[in-house]
Amino acid sequence: MPVRKDAEIIAPKGRLGVLLVGLGAVTTTFIAGVEAVKKGIGQPVGSLTQMGTIRLGKRTDNRVPLIKDFLPLANLEDLVFGAWDIFEDSAYEAAMHAGVLEKDLLQQLRGPLQKIKPMKAVFDQNYVKRLSGTNVKTGANKFKLAEQLIDEIAEWKKKNRCSRLVMIWAASTEIFLKPHPVHKTLESFEKAMRENHRAIAPSMIYAYAALKSGIPFANGAPNLTVDIPALRKLAEDNNLAICGKDFKTGQTLMKTIIAPGLKARMLGLNGWYSTNILGNRDGEVLDDPESFKTKEESKLSVLEYILQPEVYPDLYKDFSHVVRINYYPPRGDNKEGWDNIDIFGWLGYPMQIKIDFLCRDSILAAPIVLDLALFLDLAQRAGMKGIQEWLSFYFKSPQTAPGLYPEHDVFIQLMKLKNTLRYLRGEDLITHLGLEYYD
Ligand SMILES: NC(=O)c1ccc[n+]([C@@H]2O[C@H](COP(=O)([O-])OP(=O)(O)OC[C@H]3O[C@@H](n4cnc5c(N)ncnc54)[C@H](O)[C@@H]3O)[C@@H](O)[C@H]2O)c1
Repeated sequence: MPVRKDAEIIAPKGRLGVLLVGLGAVTTTFIAGVEAVKKGIGQPVGSLTQMGTIRLGKRTDNRVPLIKDFLPLANLEDLVFGAWDIFEDSAYEAAMHAGVLEKDLLQQLRGPLQKIKPMKAVFDQNYVKRLSGTNVKTGANKFKLAEQLIDEIAEWKKKNRCSRLVMIWAASTEIFLKPHPVHKTLESFEKAMRENHRAIAPSMIYAYAALKSGIPFANGAPNLTVDIPALRKLAEDNNLAICGKDFKTGQTLMKTIIAPGLKARMLGLNGWYSTNILGNRDGEVLDDPESFKTKEESKLSVLEYILQPEVYPDLYKDFSHVVRINYYPPRGDNKEGWDNIDIFGWLGYPMQIKIDFLCRDSILAAPIVLDLALFLDLAQRAGMKGIQEWLSFYFKSPQTAPGLYPEHDVFIQLMKLKNTLRYLRGEDLITHLGLEYYD
């Protein structure tokens, strides 16, 4: 089993700049949450880096430190936030508009939130049909726009006196794009940027600018973005960590909790029907069929991979899986997700499970953004590069090496994540074999 020396992790000296693409519901809830925790008026519930522990050695050793004590993660006090958006609203105004957090709480955080003003976005309405805004960069072509971003990032880093940066895409879901030949190599990608090729979406321009600037990148939406050979190679060549796609919250989180349980007990599945109503801006964007298609692809793959119909045809062959998202303004960010699950047991007898999850999307997504920012920075300081599969835990549609199927089971993902942390600090990996206790 691989063991490495923890001495290889560089200490987190100085300030960590967290660059967020999109200053919407998720990112403002994340920033406001960090500010609330710093002020001592909120708890970082849902964040593994802040509240999680990790068992080390044998169960009888009683070594269970907090993850943040076990690893040299950046402190919340050392985080600085920057963002791009097509709207000019400060983080305070955007948070008020998103309506996720209570106005009273936001007023207490007004000072730091009002200081965060979004930089002009790289945006093209062809990729997000339902939005239009004025806080947008202009440039002769997509390559020039990337150059503007690169200069802006360097300036921002200097101005904010940061020693390190990470970038996270939490902007709107773009239309569904398939891999295109221009995505194959960096040369063809750059040429396509210069030619304003349609296959280059704004999210790819941000990712390119990040990787060119030596910044690790995480993709919180289901867009293709860094999941193309040209950018994967750029990350590898520049020793940068990347991960994605699509934050695992709400209904898909529930799916990846329940489906492994059904499979563990060899219970069959005839069908899983999922529908959602939500009324935030994300819901409005996803009301456009082309953006929804990107989301649908991301949500649909989960069950196939967990249940493995090809391995268990008697239990999972041809189950029906339907996912719907309906834009319903009165709900705002407080989504309601219904699941009807048709399962069968002994001798094929049918049963049903109904789930009605009254969830708050951004409340579930904010701790993911925090953990990804801290873990990406850690990965960077630990010399890890390319796709970070151990961060699959946070994604609906985890990015993996080409040809490797993704692991969707949230419990396996957590084990993978914690074993990676043990590995980074030269601790024994935990297999859960347990025979040693009975020798
Ligand atoms: N909330 C969740 O639980 C969750 C889960 C998984 C994925 N996501 C994804 O995260 C993203 C953000 O979600 P949200 O609820 O905050 O949405 P939101 O609509 O509130 O915020 C997105 C923001 O991105 C901005 N934007 C769009 N294109 C941009 C561009 N090219 N450059 C800069 N800014 C741009 C929009 O103006 C908007 O303010 C969405 O893609 C969503 O699908 C959210």
